[in-house]
Amino acid sequence: MPVKLGREVLAALVTAGVCAAAVAEPVVADPPSTAYAEILPAPVSARADRGGFTIDRHTTISAGPGARGVADHLAGILRPSTGRPLPIVPAGRRGNTIALTMDGSDGPRERYRLDVNGRGVTITAGRADGLFAGVQTLRQLVHGHTVPAGNVTDAPRFAYRGAMLDVARHYFTVAQVERYIDELVQYKISVLHLHLTDDQGWRLMIDSWPRLAAVGGSTAVGGDPGGYYTQAQYRAIVEYAASRFMTVIPEIDMPGHVNAALAAYPELTCDGVAPPLYTGTGVGFSSLCVPKEITYQFLDDVIGELAALTPGPYLHIGGDEAHATSRADYVTFMNRVQGIVAAHGKRVQAWHQIAAATPLPGTVAQYWGTTNAEVAAATGVVLSPANLAYLDMKYNDRTPLGQDWAALIEVRDAYDWDPGTYLPDVPSSAVRGVEAPLWTENLRTPDELEYMAFPRLAAIAELGWSPASTHDWDAFKVRLAAQAPRWRAQGIDFYPSTQISWR
Ligand code: ACM
Repeated sequence: MPVKLGREVLAALVTAGVCAAAVAEPVVADPPSTAYAEILPAPVSARADRGGFTIDRHTTISAGPGARGVADHLAGILRPSTGRPLPIVPAGRRGNTIALTMDGSDGPRERYRLDVNGRGVTITAGRADGLFAGVQTLRQLVHGHTVPAGNVTDAPRFAYRGAMLDVARHYFTVAQVERYIDELVQYKISVLHLHLTDDQGWRLMIDSWPRLAAVGGSTAVGGDPGGYYTQAQYRAIVEYAASRFMTVIPEIDMPGHVNAALAAYPELTCDGVAPPLYTGTGVGFSSLCVPKEITYQFLDDVIGELAALTPGPYLHIGGDEAHATSRADYVTFMNRVQGIVAAHGKRVQAWHQIAAATPLPGTVAQYWGTTNAEVAAATGVVLSPANLAYLDMKYNDRTPLGQDWAALIEVRDAYDWDPGTYLPDVPSSAVRGVEAPLWTENLRTPDELEYMAFPRLAAIAELGWSPASTHDWDAFKVRLAAQAPRWRAQGIDFYPSTQISWR
């Protein structure tokens, strides 16, 4: 290797009277890469060194015990992008390898360390979820065939870093949901909340009540095509997410937002008359019949099947906008349904209105207000303030898609708040994390989802992962700008906010 002279050395030679032209073919040293300052979400610490590692046709991926799945995931990304064969070999290989190593130590979940030097890349973690997080960081460091030298030490601020997709107002296929999962996990999103049911559609086959999907799933907003997931398809989504260390939290919204169910089964209404299927965008007009015993038999069946399909600990039971349910009925209902969820071995997540009932220990309230004054008195809180974290809100008054009832949300608005201190009456110890919901009343295609999610999803992802000490809009703008070439390569149709100097 020729010794490379840095700019500062050349400048010193010039200053010392040595003509720059006399220095034969000066090869300018690669300065430490800026790539380590562009990792998004920002890591706990990162340092760039000079030099780097080149992925060539002899490079291997070496995987220790338990790391094989992550190695397959990495190979699936790097083989097409580099054109290198990257065979996966057992641990122990030294030199010219990307080593995924489990060190067997405890410590925070998803913790990892990444080291890059001229001989290779090493990602070390206590568990496979940390290796996976480290792989997402590595993906952002690879440019062409090279990985700049340096190291990263990292762990998440919050375990819950969520994104919600409303597949009820518009139906999205399994492949479309899986594409969104892949877009999310690269920013270390750890929870996919699926809003499976609403007035306009019921999207999961419940074998004991098949008309829910067959009839209630036949519609979508505006007369667009309906659809539903068979249980096998739904399991495929859950497994696809799990293989990427993402937990699916399914939501069956109740006692309101149930017109599709009532249209399918008239016995669930108080008067026994089925309403027509609904394809508008109103809210707050439907309710399960709280005094009728069949309501709880129905919910026991639905929740039982859903619990059996759900490896994660939480089921989301909605509880928002129950304007067609009296307050007394609402409290009775939410308390009884929490018991049904518990009887099936699961814990409850619900929109923060559940605080009006008696949240069981372990119930998580998801805050979606806009005032930060409504207190969510639950043992855990997930923050999705509608005026900051709702990805379906327009960016500005010219945004062709989305809604504006909560706010116009530019990139800086989505980024510039602190989930740890946002609710004055909720201690930061009760904050489990953040979630970016994407409601689909007027979003119909994956392109439209991507335009609303990107770039703001990256802002919410960073609020969930990065230490509060890294919070800095000017630095975030640089990190975000660096994502644009990756989004273009992935075919993500993002909103090119003028707040950012895109690459
Ligand atoms: C909600 O936006 N109704 C939770």
